[in-house]
Amino acid sequence: MKESIKLGIFGLGTVGKGVVEQLRKNGALISQRLGKELQITKAVTANPTKDRGIDLSDIQISSDPKDILDDPEIDIVLELIGGVTDAKSIVLEALQKGKSVVTANKALLAECTEEIFNMAYQSKGLFGFEASVAGCIPVIREIKSSYSGEKIEEISGIINGTANYILTSMIEDKADFQVALKAAQDKGYAEADPAFDIEGTDTAHKLIILMDLAFNGLFDLKELYVEGITKITPLDIEIAEQFGYTIKLLGKAVNTDKGFEGRVHPTLVKTSNMLASVRGAFNAVAIKGNFMGPTLSYGAGAGAYPTASAVMGDVIEISRNLLQEAGQLVPPLASMRDQLSKKKILPMSEVTTEYYLRFSVLDEVGVMSKITTLLGENDIGIRSMLQKGEAHSPKDPIHVVIFTHKAIEKNILKALAKIDSLQFVAEPTNLIRIDTE
Ligand SMILES: NC(=O)c1ccc[n+]([C@@H]2O[C@H](COP(=O)([O-])OP(=O)(O)OC[C@H]3O[C@@H](n4cnc5c(N)ncnc54)[C@H](OP(=O)(O)O)[C@@H]3O)[C@@H](O)[C@H]2O)c1
Repeated sequence: MKESIKLGIFGLGTVGKGVVEQLRKNGALISQRLGKELQITKAVTANPTKDRGIDLSDIQISSDPKDILDDPEIDIVLELIGGVTDAKSIVLEALQKGKSVVTANKALLAECTEEIFNMAYQSKGLFGFEASVAGCIPVIREIKSSYSGEKIEEISGIINGTANYILTSMIEDKADFQVALKAAQDKGYAEADPAFDIEGTDTAHKLIILMDLAFNGLFDLKELYVEGITKITPLDIEIAEQFGYTIKLLGKAVNTDKGFEGRVHPTLVKTSNMLASVRGAFNAVAIKGNFMGPTLSYGAGAGAYPTASAVMGDVIEISRNLLQEAGQLVPPLASMRDQLSKKKILPMSEVTTEYYLRFSVLDEVGVMSKITTLLGENDIGIRSMLQKGEAHSPKDPIHVVIFTHKAIEKNILKALAKIDSLQFVAEPTNLIRIDTE
């Protein structure tokens, strides 16, 4: 039996350094639980001589991937560099060489799903990616293990801390979008280029991984509907609150009779729904199964230590398997490879839900009746209606907000195309979907 498990780590940035620190601090505890020692023997990083403010003298650091990939002593490779191109070759080569791999890289898994998982299945390597979705919340392990007897019906996740932080400050501090974004950047939550977070791309990456796991499928990221939070205004937040809702960026996947829904967009969530109380940079994932009913998991979705913790959990699980020579006990994507097939996501036009529609219109006679007639002609029922604002001149727009009953998205879009082309409409209508849970 091995005397220790040796780790080779690619990347000593936020997460990589967090992993080193966790092993330094909790190493003795981890050894007690594992029965053997975990050792980081080598690291490969872009700038090997960079000062990282911690003692790394016992780790051999270089910039040459071969130093880890060609070292037969290394049992587990940690890919913590991010990006797709280099990360993909590292992960594929490590698996091909019979090593186990742990990654936190959601972009890689979402964009190269088949290539990566085909290799993970073929190589029979142990492959951990818990840190790729929702930081320290063990949602991947839940789906792969705890819920493996369930038919999963629905997943709703707040899985991007930056977007949730921005929406929370818009709600609680009444900040407008740009001010809230700046605050998120100052706190280190949002990158200098925050596009992945605020445009919904990062949420989409994570949702597609959850869909693959939950629905025994290989879904195409390009089929997901993805809309970010940039169109949300303080006015929308105020009106939503008035009607008992809060606005969240949700990643939502539903196994419906018509097919699989997969969508990322700002959503009005009832304030009584537990997801509504997820504040700041925290994440939460709600999963509904046909026997277990609804569950909710909550925790830090990012950050050096929470993410390192998820990486470490995978490392320890894999080490246990390696020490027992147990092999691949749980298939990498939850199902046997021959049961995994390419699956389609329903076009957004086929989704049925309730809608919040904010019309910006000139205050003229007949406006309301024209809007409600066009909605009615497209089978859209009105649940509540509100007029907001006052026109001080004939050119000042006012806001008419309509909450609809459930309607099919293609009818909504047809009605809005007609309404938005009318002369009295000052700005395109703001549409926000409502969570009907
Ligand atoms: N940060 C989080 O909270 C978080 C949460 C969940 C998942 N993740 C994921 O974890 C991964 C790492 O994120 P991070 O925040 O730790 O990134 P980061 O702080 O930017 O660190 C990246 C590290 O990788 C190194 N690197 C970059 N390109 C490289 C290459 N081609 N070859 C070798 N080393 C390279 C960098 O080297 P130098 O330092 O030497 O320049 C740096 O040490 C990403 O996939 C990310 O999506 C991060």
